[in-house]
Amino acid sequence: MTRITVKVDGSSFTDEVEPRTLLVHYLREQLGKTGTVIGCDTGNCGACTVHLDGRSVKSCSLLAVQADGHQVTTIEGLSTNGQLHPMQQAFHENHALQCGYCTPGMIMQSIDLIVDNPDPSEEDVRLGLEGNLCRCTGYQNIVKAVRAAAQQARTQQAGTQPAGAQPAGAQAAGAQAAGAQAAGAQAAGVEQPGVEQAGVGEEQAAGEEQAAGEVQVGVGEEQVGVGQGVGGVR
Ligand code: FES
Ligand code: FES
Repeated sequence: MTRITVKVDGSSFTDEVEPRTLLVHYLREQLGKTGTVIGCDTGNCGACTVHLDGRSVKSCSLLAVQADGHQVTTIEGLSTNGQLHPMQQAFHENHALQCGYCTPGMIMQSIDLIVDNPDPSEEDVRLGLEGNLCRCTGYQNIVKAVRAAAQQARTQQAGTQPAGAQPAGAQAAGAQAAGAQAAGAQAAGVEQPGVEQAGVGEEQAAGEEQAAGEVQVGVGEEQVGVGQGVGGVR
């Protein structure tokens, strides 16, 4: 066994793990972060995507020991004081989920995507999400949601900048898109007291409509039988 200390969704955890333990298994089984789901266990589907030090990674493709000393953000750490993360909200408003199983990974990857590209074209989004598969094939609305979140971020960014000022690069707009939490403080694992568990909800996983403001977008917990998606975003 190996002792690791990892900051997950703003809280620090020290645990003994087997060196072979995958990060996704550590998150789900030792920390109870079941909002991060497993679709394939082989790095193909992207359902397990989380942020490691602010960038997206497939947590089934990393060992828990590789996260030692680092900061992890899961779908459960995105909301703030009961408010959905802007990307979660965009998925909700654009009906970008059906069964919801791929949604946690889609959202985590999408946040990272718009950090790098604050104004993605449809093609850019499809390329950026090609490592995330949706078995329900709801790609059209996923693309719409990501572009809507990016647009909102740019609007907010413009509203906070002096006239004529340019954003301080892609990271600025991306952080804004992420509600100033994904790639920045949030993804960096800054403490967020009172953060609710974003995206853990069976009714959401079942694809039911969800009232705005609820914090369950993005996670289909324990959807046994949902395996690799087919086709990819493209
Ligand atoms: S479960 Fe990690 S990529 Fe599919
Ligand atoms: S909504 Fe993507 S797998 Fe069902």
